[in-house]
Amino acid sequence: MRSDITLAIIKPNAVRTGKIGPILAMINEAGFEIIALKMVKLTKQQAESFYEVHREKVFFESLVEFMSSGPVVAMILRHRNAVDEFRKLIGNTDPAKAEPGTIRKLYGISVQMNAIHGSDSIENAIKEASFFFSEIERFY
Ligand code: RTP
Ligand code: MG
Repeated sequence: MRSDITLAIIKPNAVRTGKIGPILAMINEAGFEIIALKMVKLTKQQAESFYEVHREKVFFESLVEFMSSGPVVAMILRHRNAVDEFRKLIGNTDPAKAEPGTIRKLYGISVQMNAIHGSDSIENAIKEASFFFSEIERFY
């Protein structure tokens, strides 16, 4: 099993406020290689399916509503230890607790509208990559 990929999503709040470019630049400067990329607007059903593991959480419905509220940019990123390295770059789930210089510190506006998603394990990265991208949409 490869361990060098993670799945990232620039969330609706960051797309809406014109932060696709600045966030891609940070990803680029941090040494990640973009091996798949697309802009899509998820349906509520697709957002529910993506966040299935959180179905029982109190924030589930609100999260699904938010993630389907506007276009997002999904990408597969390649880097050594991609999952952990990318979570360092994005910072704490709560932007207020995120380290200075992280994507969430810079562009997150609340725990929910925290600008960006990063996979939490290599198993989930592989599943999430297949959720968004078919074989002919990936380049590695
Ligand atoms: P992500 O999956 O988006 O990379 O974020 P994460 O691992 O840091 O956080 P996770 O626990 O997986 O939660 C997924 C997303 O749900 C929203 N959330 N809202 N208390 C709340 O209102 C709450 N907790 C989490 C956030 O958008 C979080 O990124
Ligand atoms: Mg997560």
